[in-house]
Amino acid sequence: MITPNRTYLEITEDLLSVEETLNEHLANFITAANMFIKEMDTPAGYQSLVKLLSSLNDYSRSHFIYQESIMELKYYPGESEHKIEHLEFITGVAKLFKELLLRKKKHYLSESSKLDDHKLLLEDTYSFILNWYNEHILLTDKHFNDFLKFEWSKK
Ligand SMILES: [Fe+2]
Repeated sequence: MITPNRTYLEITEDLLSVEETLNEHLANFITAANMFIKEMDTPAGYQSLVKLLSSLNDYSRSHFIYQESIMELKYYPGESEHKIEHLEFITGVAKLFKELLLRKKKHYLSESSKLDDHKLLLEDTYSFILNWYNEHILLTDKHFNDFLKFEWSKK
């Protein structure tokens, strides 16, 4: 079996925030995502998906609330657009959870095509986290971090 080449996520210097807690949240996300990417093409792929979805749930609960509270406090002009992306993430994770539960129910009734079916969900999850990293962390979160850095420098 040929194992596909996977892209791992990185924390580069320019992604770091002046707010340490935000960096911890980012590190948690990257660690969970990379663990999933490492295991997704192995027999542990399905279990690692269950673990990842639970981590993404934790990440959205702790990180979004914290980051949004700073936005409000600092009157960040991009607050609304940023919050919409957070909502889209929550919806995306809920959809993946739903797919997982539907498959559980289906495979309880029939074992046929179980592996292929899981593979599709693993690929969808992989695309979801890469997209979040490229579109939100590298752009939207970075934009907010740059704003915070600027605010910080005025002190
Ligand atoms: Fe964000």
